[in-house]
Amino acid sequence: MAIVLTGIKPTGQPHIGNYVGAMKPAVASSRDASATPYFFIADYHAIGGDADAVAHSTLEITASWLAVGLDPNRVMLYRQSDIPEIPELTWILHCMTAKGLMNRAHAYKAAVAENEATPGRDPDQAVMMNLYSYPILMAADILMFKADKVPVGRDQKQHVEMARDIAQRFNHHFGETFVLPEAVIGDNIATLPGLDGRKMSKSYSNVVPLFAGEKQLRKLLMKIKTNSLEPGQPKDPNDSALYEIYRAFATDAETAAVRTRYAEGIAWGEMKQLLFERINTELAPARAEYERLMAHPREIEDVLQQGAAKARAVSRPFLAEIRDRIGIRPLAR
Ligand code: TRP
Repeated sequence: MAIVLTGIKPTGQPHIGNYVGAMKPAVASSRDASATPYFFIADYHAIGGDADAVAHSTLEITASWLAVGLDPNRVMLYRQSDIPEIPELTWILHCMTAKGLMNRAHAYKAAVAENEATPGRDPDQAVMMNLYSYPILMAADILMFKADKVPVGRDQKQHVEMARDIAQRFNHHFGETFVLPEAVIGDNIATLPGLDGRKMSKSYSNVVPLFAGEKQLRKLLMKIKTNSLEPGQPKDPNDSALYEIYRAFATDAETAAVRTRYAEGIAWGEMKQLLFERINTELAPARAEYERLMAHPREIEDVLQQGAAKARAVSRPFLAEIRDRIGIRPLAR
């Protein structure tokens, strides 16, 4: 029974690309998982920018996952900062992490490389310690709950490998304690094109927010880039962002029907309307639930508190064991 653990950083609002690529499959697999999966809001990883944005995004992200059907009775759903064992373990792991290992982290190296490319800049300019030791906090997230599998994007693979290295060093020094985690890279994860045809991503500002209101959803979908083929001219579905997005939402039969419409020369305006209707049908119930939850933050807070209590029932005794291993012990029983 492999333990699967996923952290979601609270930055911004999820978009429809996150929904089809990560949220929908994660919710589906959480329903038939043999072991209880762990999902947590990684708010300690988001410190340093705008404080209200962290708080608001935590609310939006939790509400979104609940609204799309993540069932807190089937998964461990918690906020990282509600688990004080995590920062304590982070320090303990610092003591077993080679500085040289952190020097090799891609994110830190990229920041240094950018500084070095700018004449007169110190290589570590504006590099904060949380960027430098980010992988150690992430290792604590993972090792605390003995995760076997960690589904992440390709950019996070190195961090999971570092968690493994740190765990190995600890186990070697103090005896078998941590489970060695493995990254699961979703190479088959659907990535959606954005409004401009490039990959949908916050950094390109080309996203369709998952819970945009109906009007805004339609408005955004109408902006999706198409070519200049006229109504009646046959169109190639394999070269169409509209088709790609449609396919990610639709059944095989619906998709086949749309391919026929392309061959018959469907007008782009009509295809956009079809896409809007298909997405809206799927998202409308979840959107209503999202809006309801956003209006009742108390309910979300309660879910997170209950999740924290369940997670701490695991982390508290394990940390006690870890403390004993490293020699932090009561002097008398
Ligand atoms: N660093 C991850 C990201 O930026 C989020 C994250 C934090 C995470 N802790 C984790 C993911 C532990 C998996 C496991 O996306």
